Amino acid sequence: MAQANANRPVSGHEKIETSNFLMIVLTLVTILFGGLVEIVPLFFQTSTTQPVAGLLPYTPLQLAGRDVYLREGCYNCHSQMIRPFRSETLRYGDASKAGEFVYDHPFQWGSKRTGPDLHRVGGKYSDQWHRIHLNNPRDVVPESNMPSYAWLDKAPANAGIGANMAALRKVGVPYTDDEIAKAADGVKDKTELDAVIAYLQVLGTAGKGPAAAAATVK
Ligand code: HEC
Repeated sequence: MAQANANRPVSGHEKIETSNFLMIVLTLVTILFGGLVEIVPLFFQTSTTQPVAGLLPYTPLQLAGRDVYLREGCYNCHSQMIRPFRSETLRYGDASKAGEFVYDHPFQWGSKRTGPDLHRVGGKYSDQWHRIHLNNPRDVVPESNMPSYAWLDKAPANAGIGANMAALRKVGVPYTDDEIAKAADGVKDKTELDAVIAYLQVLGTAGKGPAAAAATVK
């Protein structure tokens, strides 16, 4: 039996399967090719690289709020990515579109949802609701397990936010020299709490409304 096996012709596929070297190299080539085919077109598709109609770069105050959002790790419990499923769009609103995130560096999509998705939370509540909620979530949602962020109201918003805007301009956010020079005015006399609220209130608003809904894949 062993004799017979030794003499039978070896197929090309068997040569690959029985050689560690060939198997590893060809697997790598296949994965690299597959990756390139999936990833490279995204850099050239206008739907992923162009802002949706009405999307504006963050104002200095909103941007300062976004930095607080990152610093406090809000993304550990909140995603900003509404998937195109009925269960999601009924609860959160229109599905997220890539063009809504072109000014986000880095984007805050995430997948961890201890709390609800926040992509379209802009305009859902009043500033005052957010003020109370961030100070102590249980004051408005008794069963909430979100931490309170009482210190945000006592810290001034980052007056050096112009430097962040200059850095963002290097990666394609269209801030003008004038906007960068006047950035400090935008956060003057504001607290970090004001900043986070300004950020939350603009989230997802560019992609809302009838035109955006019509463009959404249902
Ligand atoms: C430990 C997890 C956790 C962290 C961290 C967290 N949250 Fe929450 N968040 C929740 C939960 C749970 C809810 C739902 C209950 C509630 O409304 O408080 C929630 C609700 C919210 C809501 C209301 C959303 C809606 O549609 O009703 C907002 C806005 C919000 N969080 C903002 C933030 C911000 C801003 C931060 C960071 C400063 C943050 N959260 C950090 C868990 C978290």
